Amino acid sequence: MKLLITGGAGCLGANIIDAYLERPGMEILVLDNFATGYRASLPQNAENLEIIEGSVSDEALVNRVFDGFKPTHVIHSAAAYKDPDDWVEDARTNVLGSIYVARASERVGVKRLVNFQTSLTFGRPETTPIPNDAPSKPFTSYGVSKTAGEQVMLAANLNVVSLRLSNITGPRLSIGPIPTFYTRLKAGKGCFCSDTYRDFMDMSDFMAFLELALDADAPQGVFNVGTGESKSINDVFDQAVAYLGITMDEPVPVVPAGADDVQTVVLDASETEKAFNWKAKVSFEDTIRKMYQWYDEFGVTAIFSHVKAPDVEKK
Ligand SMILES: NC(=O)c1ccc[n+]([C@@H]2O[C@H](COP(=O)([O-])OP(=O)(O)OC[C@H]3O[C@@H](n4cnc5c(N)ncnc54)[C@H](O)[C@@H]3O)[C@@H](O)[C@H]2O)c1
Repeated sequence: MKLLITGGAGCLGANIIDAYLERPGMEILVLDNFATGYRASLPQNAENLEIIEGSVSDEALVNRVFDGFKPTHVIHSAAAYKDPDDWVEDARTNVLGSIYVARASERVGVKRLVNFQTSLTFGRPETTPIPNDAPSKPFTSYGVSKTAGEQVMLAANLNVVSLRLSNITGPRLSIGPIPTFYTRLKAGKGCFCSDTYRDFMDMSDFMAFLELALDADAPQGVFNVGTGESKSINDVFDQAVAYLGITMDEPVPVVPAGADDVQTVVLDASETEKAFNWKAKVSFEDTIRKMYQWYDEFGVTAIFSHVKAPDVEKK
């Protein structure tokens, strides 16, 4: 397989490379501008891994990279989101970038393209868990631009599956309540929980699904990828306290969701389960425990590579 991963230095991309790089016959190319990903997360001297620094919004570069590498499979993981007010950069990466990646994939005859989509495409959903066919009603720069990018992919003359992802939890996760509670509680600092509910899925369940999604004969279209289980941020806090063996004198404060937040994002993956004969297996408790065991070993940092590269600076 010749696998091109846009945004391959990010959290999901680096985990995919960990899982796929050593497979026989595998050649991987990463195109990443390191906006939120890290070169040091990737093996540095692997013969079958090429890392190109650049943006998916650079049409000439995208064309050159695709024409040179001629991928058989593409995972479109690159996404801009780090400044919620920067609609222009989000549009450049998430919309224009998707157009260039889609056109180049068509031209070189990619057999299968897997697009990663945010559940923020559903905006403030009317039904929970969110059904597979719920309407897209995004309202943030990230959600709006990712939704346009997904539409580009679906309209292309390509074999495409677009995955609406829950909160994937595993190595390198460094943002959100799971690492925040771990870090603050260990430092003896206070915490609070927003009154929100999410769907946490273990990385191993995501990887098992991705394997099926990359198959060119697998179903096309849009699919929810989650556990369907609603867990509050308070539930995450309780797991953190239990894991660290801390006794709380008072209950943790729970504050209302922020104005730009969505109270509940939980995905109904029943159609996905049927279509792919797959189901998330790891329980919420085990998912959080595995994450905390990982932090015990490697610390809370986005940067981690199985292949140590001391000469590569943290970006
Ligand atoms: N991790 C999750 O739980 C989750 C949930 C929902 C959706 N997603 C989607 O999955 C994808 C990967 O998410 P992640 O958690 O790994 O995030 P991430 O930020 O770690 O990875 C995104 C990568 O894209 C790169 N990038 C940004 N702009 C780029 C550009 N213009 N050109 C090339 N590369 C660029 C970043 O540097 C980064 O390495 C994203 O598309 C995201 O919307 C992830």
